[in-house]
Amino acid sequence: MDPRINPYAPGAGYPPPELAGRDDIVERASIALNRIKAGRPSRSMIFYGLRGVGKTVLLNKVRLDAEAQEIATVHIEAPEGKSLPAALLPSLRSTLIKLSRMEAMKAGFSGVLRTVSGLARALKIKYEDIEIGLDGGDDGPGGTGDLETDLVDLLDTVGRAAKAQKTAIIILIDELQYIREEQLGSLIAALHRANQNQLPVALFAAGLPQLLGLAGRARSYAERLFEYVPIDQLDEEAARLALCRPAERENVAFAEGAVAEIIQQTHGYPYFLQEWGKHSWDLARSSPITQQDAEAATAAALAELDASFFRVRFDRLTPAEKRYLRAMAELGAGPHRSGDIAEKLGRPVTTVAPTRNSLIAKGMLYSPSHGDTAFTVPLFDGFMKRIMAFPF
Ligand SMILES: Nc1ncnc2c1ncn2[C@@H]1O[C@H](COP(=O)(O)OP(=O)(O)OP(=O)(O)O)[C@@H](O)[C@H]1O
Ligand SMILES: [Mg+2]
Repeated sequence: MDPRINPYAPGAGYPPPELAGRDDIVERASIALNRIKAGRPSRSMIFYGLRGVGKTVLLNKVRLDAEAQEIATVHIEAPEGKSLPAALLPSLRSTLIKLSRMEAMKAGFSGVLRTVSGLARALKIKYEDIEIGLDGGDDGPGGTGDLETDLVDLLDTVGRAAKAQKTAIIILIDELQYIREEQLGSLIAALHRANQNQLPVALFAAGLPQLLGLAGRARSYAERLFEYVPIDQLDEEAARLALCRPAERENVAFAEGAVAEIIQQTHGYPYFLQEWGKHSWDLARSSPITQQDAEAATAAALAELDASFFRVRFDRLTPAEKRYLRAMAELGAGPHRSGDIAEKLGRPVTTVAPTRNSLIAKGMLYSPSHGDTAFTVPLFDGFMKRIMAFPF
């Protein structure tokens, strides 16, 4: 069918044609925003789940909701290898510039802008990747150069300004698991303080499941400060909606056999549903999309994923990491006992532990419970089997 009007949207953070199965989460986030703006106590929210379940999409939705409620937002993606202040400060600064240009907010935020520059200058000694604060002009009071002290101070200043202007500030951080533990700890401490002082500042973040352990280790009270919201694959009803609704709007239907094939292949993972929807549409000659079309889409989608989505992740791995994942795939989708994986590799658990750790740091694996190991990328086991022979 006509690819020009293909409604599906496979891609990182692309808004889906139908945001299926997330009404409850969207509503909870909306209530939280509302309460934060009104100065009522509300916990920060953290969306966690595997690759491609729709975390970034939800975070973007929260940002739009916040902006519609006239809440100021600071949105960053934690990049691997960059420090938290280097990512946060420029983004915070541009939000403050916007606010200080708005007639209604001007008085409250101009001073805060100077504080940010001052802190950036002090922190730059330790975090050399910070790219603002040296540009003369706004000569704010200096910070201490200690991340925690300065972040506490910063959120306090920002929070008080927001409160005085009857608004709120929310910080949105995607890929939170890439923030170094001690830097995350400082951010949590700063949020905690703002919370205790009833300031309208909150964090909405998203990331892989390992961030739960990370946050808990960084600060033991993290679990009381945050509401952790698991983002899972869609159940059958929601997966059906995600697939069929966008087509229905173009007067195209899916045969029951096609729906069954796609749900079975994708396991209801949102990203895969978009890929399969897109390929089924392109391959079908006319409505309804048949089971045969869906089966052809399976072959086309897998070939494309193998060449891109899975492949880019595979290419970042060392030979030892590849072998670890291949042995793991041999055991199935998982989770698996770390001991069983080591046994498949024919090595003692202790000698493969560093490989497992580096795979966790790269965001390829996580530990759902002590001693267990699982893929963060759904269907990665199948890919490993297609791309590497076993035994090696
Ligand atoms: N609720 C949903 N219904 C249908 N499609 C969805 C839904 N949520 C997300 N998608 C689609 O799934 C894909 C992945 O979404 P997104 O990038 O938000 O995932 P993610 O969890 O952030 O993945 P990653 O961990 O790789 O960053 C996108 O193509 C998006 O359109
Ligand atoms: Mg994402």
